[in-house]
Amino acid sequence: MTPLPQKTAWIQKEIDALKAAGLYNHIRIIDSPMDARVTIDGRSLLNFCANNYLGLANHPRIRAAAQKAIDEYGIGPGAVRTIAGTMSLHIELENRLAAFKKAEACISFQSGFAANLATIPAIVGRDDVIFSDELNHASIIDGCRLSRARVVRYAHNDMDDLARQIEATPEYGRRMIISDGVFSMDGDIAPLDKIVAVAEKYDIITMVDDAHGEGVLGTGGRGIVDHFGLHGRVDIEIGTLSKAFGVVGGLVAGRAEIIEWLRQRGRPFLFSSAMTVPDVAACLEAVNILSDSTELVDRLWNNAKIFSEGMAQLGFDTGHSATPIVPVMLGEAPLAQQFSRRLFEEGVFAMAIGFPTVPQGKARVRVMNSAAHSSTDIEQALEIFGEVGRELGVV
Ligand SMILES: Cc1ncc(COP(=O)(O)O)c(C=O)c1O
Repeated sequence: MTPLPQKTAWIQKEIDALKAAGLYNHIRIIDSPMDARVTIDGRSLLNFCANNYLGLANHPRIRAAAQKAIDEYGIGPGAVRTIAGTMSLHIELENRLAAFKKAEACISFQSGFAANLATIPAIVGRDDVIFSDELNHASIIDGCRLSRARVVRYAHNDMDDLARQIEATPEYGRRMIISDGVFSMDGDIAPLDKIVAVAEKYDIITMVDDAHGEGVLGTGGRGIVDHFGLHGRVDIEIGTLSKAFGVVGGLVAGRAEIIEWLRQRGRPFLFSSAMTVPDVAACLEAVNILSDSTELVDRLWNNAKIFSEGMAQLGFDTGHSATPIVPVMLGEAPLAQQFSRRLFEEGVFAMAIGFPTVPQGKARVRVMNSAAHSSTDIEQALEIFGEVGRELGVV
């Protein structure tokens, strides 16, 4: 083997340390569409990993819409939208999403991550302050850092602490409260009604990142703002098209002047190309499917209920999720990795998640329920979870 250059030798040491601590990401290679079952290493496995909440990632209507759009518009957007112009398809998607979410306006981004990086620094800067839930997603944390605003973290979902921190931090220019809508590692929901009440009391901008609520919460999957009936009272709603919508992309919904401002000042909008044509067409069809019927959203919640109740009966600790995300709490990362490996051997694909994604000592196997699962899929999965749990002394 060629010797490693001195200047980067530390990288291999760090990787070896991750492996020794059971924190190395082993990425599985999938040779099939993303669906209820996936093919990995030549075997068909039950898929309980994906954020494909509604089974749209391989839905026939979505596939057909993407194929048709390719025939009409090709693939790529050519350049950033302010330079090469914007395709009518992107505008149509943004208008449809705004109407779906009952917001004044909407703008799309390449991903939910990009939507956060675009929005936070466009709204607050060096002289401003952000109040951020301590468990907010990495893309919010990075957006906050990019903004150079002061970041004050408040205890997770703790409204008394939020109010205390606001009272103790009075001397700043603009102020913004940011929270995940659904916390992706625990599946709990932010008390958005209470956050809005605090924000209104102190006249602070509110932003919620509804990545895991989009297509899941609210009437027919209209998201967390709809879930709490807060239309018009949350300034900025971030969403993703990469999870329940089954495609890839991000969105920001809110008042027209905010969305217009992001077209002028959102850096991933100004300096990075737009979503591709098949992505946009697929998302448009996802909006159509969700607007036509609540069937998939209803099935998702029903599946999640059956799975969670089954896990509780088996004796697993599944935390305090209020959504189709079910964290199977295992404690130390090596146990979570061993659990996930044994599930895999028995035919269930469900990933172990450890530090730094979750705190040390709170490693878990995170189960993502989906409308794509049949009742037989869920029964089989529960049986396998029970067997592995008993074998490893977890239940
Ligand atoms: C809260 C939250 N925001 C943003 C993202 C990123 O979304 P995307 O995959 O579209 O970049 C995620 C995805 O994990 C998320 O959970």
